[in-house]
Amino acid sequence: MRDKWSSNLGFILAASGSAIGLGNLWKFPYNAGANGGGAFVLLYLLFLILIGIPLMISAITLGRKTQLSVFGAYKSINPKWSFVGGLGVICGFIILAFYSTVGGWVIYYLKTAILGGLNSTDPIFLGNLFGNLMNSPVELLLYQFIFMLITMFIVLKGISNGIEKASKIMMPSLFIIIIIIIIRSITLNGSLVGIEFLFIPDFSKINMDVAMNALGQVFFSISIGMGTIVTYGSYLDKKDNLLTTSSMIPLLDTLIAILAGLAILPAVFALGFEPTEGPGLMFITLPAVFSSMPLGNLFCILFFLLVLFAALTSSISMLEVAVSYFVEEKKKKRVPSTVIIGIIIFLLGIPASLSLGTWSFKVLGTLNFFDLYDKLTANILLTTGAFLLTIFIGWVLKPEEAIKEIESSGIKFKLANIWTILIKYLVPIAIGIILINSYIDFIKSILNIS
Ligand code: TRP
Repeated sequence: MRDKWSSNLGFILAASGSAIGLGNLWKFPYNAGANGGGAFVLLYLLFLILIGIPLMISAITLGRKTQLSVFGAYKSINPKWSFVGGLGVICGFIILAFYSTVGGWVIYYLKTAILGGLNSTDPIFLGNLFGNLMNSPVELLLYQFIFMLITMFIVLKGISNGIEKASKIMMPSLFIIIIIIIIRSITLNGSLVGIEFLFIPDFSKINMDVAMNALGQVFFSISIGMGTIVTYGSYLDKKDNLLTTSSMIPLLDTLIAILAGLAILPAVFALGFEPTEGPGLMFITLPAVFSSMPLGNLFCILFFLLVLFAALTSSISMLEVAVSYFVEEKKKKRVPSTVIIGIIIFLLGIPASLSLGTWSFKVLGTLNFFDLYDKLTANILLTTGAFLLTIFIGWVLKPEEAIKEIESSGIKFKLANIWTILIKYLVPIAIGIILINSYIDFIKSILNIS
């Protein structure tokens, strides 16, 4: 028999564990910083409500209806569509490849914090610390490997075990520590500029590229577009109310992202860092914030420990998609599948790990490996996956069927009409337009045309 979540709360914890991760804490702040601040945040919120939540409902429904992980879920309804599941499995490999890179940075920072090496408010010192890590291949690969090893270990232990219990303590702790950082961050001299940057949209900054990045960020952050949520939904019991869950998870996820932005960006402006810094932003800025508060080092250690936990509850959800595909569809054994896939992903991640330092050459057009993996997943594969999901639910499975599944647990889907219109028309059109831009942008970067 298939494993089930031990309770609806178990599902909520696991799905929010998947959603809340480096996407919120690390990617959202630097994406907002690089894409005009408030304009990006505004589009993000708009896309979350109009596209993200309706898709979340769709993905959970598809999983629970079929009780199969993503590949089987599409296949069981229409075999021609099983390629979408396949796309998701591939996408999971690539995301996890660079996700584990960043997971490795977190372990390195945790170690350095424990050794007291992050105690500085000097932007140059902290910038160099990050830069030096990027140029230390042995350390990068070691920590990336440790990250993958822990991920594999947890996936091997099955879904409804210790992680659910640990989440109940770790997630609220993460929340509290972010609030503490925010208090320090917004009371720094000169932080107001950062708060305004984040919340007052400059409409002239809105363009197709910002929209593309905001939409990609929504999908990445709520784990939509590669089948994680479909797969997790398949372990959900038929009697659970999936509507509250589908809206609660994205909203909670977004709250954490905004809070992370509020913890980091005001400090960026107050302490003299650059909002357009890119992937190093969180790692360079936060140690400075910790260093300027009482018990800073202790909070710093705790913070990186909790970030590591949040990253792991996300990485296991990605590995689980690939593993469950090989176990269910290819009838492979769970243990060897997990180990082999884990190793392949580690190998795939090596170029990404090295590409912010020793291997910073451009592998395709203007992209190094890290950028390539990032753009290929968030802007292309996830967005394509989300587009196909909405077409599938809207036009293949049909909203009426989905609504029947949703209401089978004895609840009434009050917004069923609005959801139907969104899923059939608005969401596909909106994603479609942005997707065309993403393909053009991607081809341009590959061919090196600006
Ligand atoms: N959402 C996670 C984060 O924000 C990352 C993640 C986990 C993910 N599973 C996913 C992203 C599936 C896209 C698709 O860190």
